[in-house]
Amino acid sequence: MNVLIVGATGTLGRQVARRAIDQHYRVRCLVRNVRKASFLKEWGAELVRGDICKPETLPAALEGMDAVIDAATARATDSLTVKQVDWEGKVNLIQGAKSAGVERYVFFSLLEAENYPQVPLMQIKHCTELFLAESELNYTVLRLGGFMQGLIGQYAIPILDNQAVWVTGESTPVAYMNTQDIAKFAVRALEVPATSGNTYPLVGTRPWTAYEIIQLCERLSGKDAKISTPAPRFTGYHAPFDPVFPVEPQCFRSPSLCPGFSQWQPLNCADGGGLSSI
Ligand SMILES: NC(=O)c1ccc[n+]([C@@H]2O[C@H](COP(=O)([O-])OP(=O)(O)OC[C@H]3O[C@@H](n4cnc5c(N)ncnc54)[C@H](OP(=O)(O)O)[C@@H]3O)[C@@H](O)[C@H]2O)c1
Repeated sequence: MNVLIVGATGTLGRQVARRAIDQHYRVRCLVRNVRKASFLKEWGAELVRGDICKPETLPAALEGMDAVIDAATARATDSLTVKQVDWEGKVNLIQGAKSAGVERYVFFSLLEAENYPQVPLMQIKHCTELFLAESELNYTVLRLGGFMQGLIGQYAIPILDNQAVWVTGESTPVAYMNTQDIAKFAVRALEVPATSGNTYPLVGTRPWTAYEIIQLCERLSGKDAKISTPAPRFTGYHAPFDPVFPVEPQCFRSPSLCPGFSQWQPLNCADGGGLSSI
């Protein structure tokens, strides 16, 4: 099976690429910067330069592909916004995959995305799930929580370096997962027909609070953490975000019918229809 992996230079995407190569798939990676992605070539992947925000670059990457595993997301350090990459780019990719006759599509969403429309990425993930469901692609959605790999930068290194560790007062326990394990599920989904058209939550074996992780890091490092708590207006889901889409819970219908994003028609997510024209 030929698999295109998008976001393969990222934390999760590289594990997906590694797993797919180890499982003897023919792996192609759509990458923005070929030099930065050279390690994927060394692992045995084919590299195709492209950008999901540049739809003209997608047909060459999708040609001959049986499956797509999409692990791309906006980088905090990037000039592109979440809306550009995680919504507009994903619409391009899903439409491109459909046009190219791709048989399977794996998408990574967020746990409980449907419950937090006031958080832009959550709203976009939920809308992308709906958009994918109406695309008539054989999709599998894996709804993820936190990545264990993220704990290194968030907690372990600051504690080792005597830097501040930021904890919000209302810190919710998270059942973190190793991205290598998530990659196994994603690649396995390609092999199990019953996963087609289905959505699965994917979480670790037990939830950890920020304070439990900090205690663990303190014990392992022999250092005391410098804990900082941000002012309430900068914390969590109560931050004054503008929704990406104007009215919640709304998604967008039939982007192919409309020339520009601002002209797309709103769709109430509850009505269950509307994107079948892609
Ligand atoms: N991190 C978490 O804790 C977490 C939790 C739940 C779910 N997720 C989901 O898991 C998936 C992977 O997240 P991650 O943390 O592994 O991502 P990441 O490390 O931030 O990597 C993002 C990837 O997307 C690529 N990318 C960004 N913009 C692109 C564009 N315009 N065109 C093509 N590729 C583009 C990046 O390529 P470059 O190298 O060129 O920048 C990179 O390969 C995402 O769907 C994310 O929402 C993440």
